[in-house]
Amino acid sequence: MEHTKPSYYITTPIYYVNARPHLGTAYCTIMADVEARFQRACGRDVKFLTGMDEHGEKVAEAAEKNGFASPQAWCDSMEPAFRDLWQTLNISNDDFIRTTQPRHIAGVQKFLQVLLDRGYIYKDAYDGWYCRPDETYFTETQVRHHEEARRAAGEEPADPEHPLCPDCDRPLERIQEESWFFKLSAFEQPLLDFYEANPGFIQPETRKNEVVSFVKGGLKDLSISRSTFDWGVPFPFDEKHVAYVWVDALINYLTALGYGSDDESEFSYRWPAQVHVVGKDIIRFHCVIWPALLMAAGLPLPEKVFVHGFLTVRNEETGKVEKMSKSRGNAIAPEEVLELLGVDAYRYYFMSDVVHGTDAPISWGRMRQVYNADLANSWGNLVSRTLNMSAKYFDGCAPERPASWSEPSALRDACDGIFERYAACMQTMDYSGAAAEVLAIVSAANHYIEDMAPWALAKDPEKADELALVIWNLLEVIRIAAELYDPFMPSISAEVRRRLSLDPAPTRDLEAACRWGGLAGGAPVEKGDPLFPRLVDEK
Ligand code: MSP
Repeated sequence: MEHTKPSYYITTPIYYVNARPHLGTAYCTIMADVEARFQRACGRDVKFLTGMDEHGEKVAEAAEKNGFASPQAWCDSMEPAFRDLWQTLNISNDDFIRTTQPRHIAGVQKFLQVLLDRGYIYKDAYDGWYCRPDETYFTETQVRHHEEARRAAGEEPADPEHPLCPDCDRPLERIQEESWFFKLSAFEQPLLDFYEANPGFIQPETRKNEVVSFVKGGLKDLSISRSTFDWGVPFPFDEKHVAYVWVDALINYLTALGYGSDDESEFSYRWPAQVHVVGKDIIRFHCVIWPALLMAAGLPLPEKVFVHGFLTVRNEETGKVEKMSKSRGNAIAPEEVLELLGVDAYRYYFMSDVVHGTDAPISWGRMRQVYNADLANSWGNLVSRTLNMSAKYFDGCAPERPASWSEPSALRDACDGIFERYAACMQTMDYSGAAAEVLAIVSAANHYIEDMAPWALAKDPEKADELALVIWNLLEVIRIAAELYDPFMPSISAEVRRRLSLDPAPTRDLEAACRWGGLAGGAPVEKGDPLFPRLVDEK
């Protein structure tokens, strides 16, 4: 494996508190969780961080609109929606940061002071375009290009007082105020050099070109403070200004490690992060602004930013495919999917059926199809049939590992090199590829049952050794598949191990656990209920 440091620090974006989490936000978190679980299974000392992004004008407004006494009270009221959902979805985060926590505020203030001391920020007048819903600034050129593209596509010209946002097409506002600026323009060449020297920094590769051409198009200094509201982190050297919400938010990746506190030992041990998982809408913040801020502060840069696509929904009125989002009113609540699939199948569906890095339309029909084919008919069925036969033919137990366990067989061959194939996919966060590798050994085992017909062997006392070998081979594949599926379906894998009388906790050495021959056998097996009862109703 390429990564050799024991610490593995992985983050999700911190989520805006104004909306409850939906399928899209949960997708991003599950993806990071799969990565965290895989890295733990490879023996790494993982820190997995998620949290909430609580500052900014929109939050203050939402608090008021919803009748809360303070923005803080509003944020507090939203915390359980995130924490509870992550718990339900079996998200194994080690920390949960909120940008209103004192540890975060102290770190942001230190960071701003460092930027000032190193000469990378200055005060000036800001006059430009701002997208309030996205909390993003746009230059005149970006706005003009977008308008030209719209017109070329035959769309109605926008109101010149309120041209449309290049990202989300909502009207922009002209903002004029005194602001602190970050010298982003000084980092054009250093960023290009960095991308060049670190080809793996932006994944998947296709996203990299977009970032490189954006930087080559020229970087303008960035306004990083606001003075017309106060719901934010005050500048330590200019109390009238609060930090621009994106700068505040990005620094969470440092403050969760104790940056800016009395004890920065965890920060020294874990920074830089191994991977930031983000959606494609926030790629510039993570691949341009964030590295530039870190360079300016003299800190090392994260190893990798993994960019995923959107879960999309078709707008029935316009026929357009749209990003699923709370503000567009098209979001599906995770609870609806949980009701249909249950937690593990929910996680499995989004990780196995969505090709990462691309957009994916949500389809209830496809969810049922994948559930029935991969989980009910393949994985669940293999476990049920095998445990049933084992219990029936071996007095409630697994057969002892037979003397001939290492002899070639269709199953042994199918599992040969499985760890390497699976890990190669996992390392590029190609989870659908990794899941397909596991499904291949599960399918091989189901075919093996048909080919070997253990029920026929069981009728012939002279075939007792052969029967033991066949059942042991099948149980061995199940043991290996349960470990490989663990990052995707942790509860089911723990249950399968429990039914096999194995330690329900996942391995910390996945490579060794995938080696053929690990199952000693002889212990009781439990048939149990079907792991994935078939879905029959249409939704
Ligand atoms: N608060 C910022 C992130 C700050 S990180 C320093 C933010 N929050 S968000 O709640 O709007 O979005 C968080 C993540 O959810 C983003 O990565 C975004 O891409 C992802 N998703 C939101 N809707 C999504 C879909 N419909 N599909 C997939 N992911 C989506 O941005």
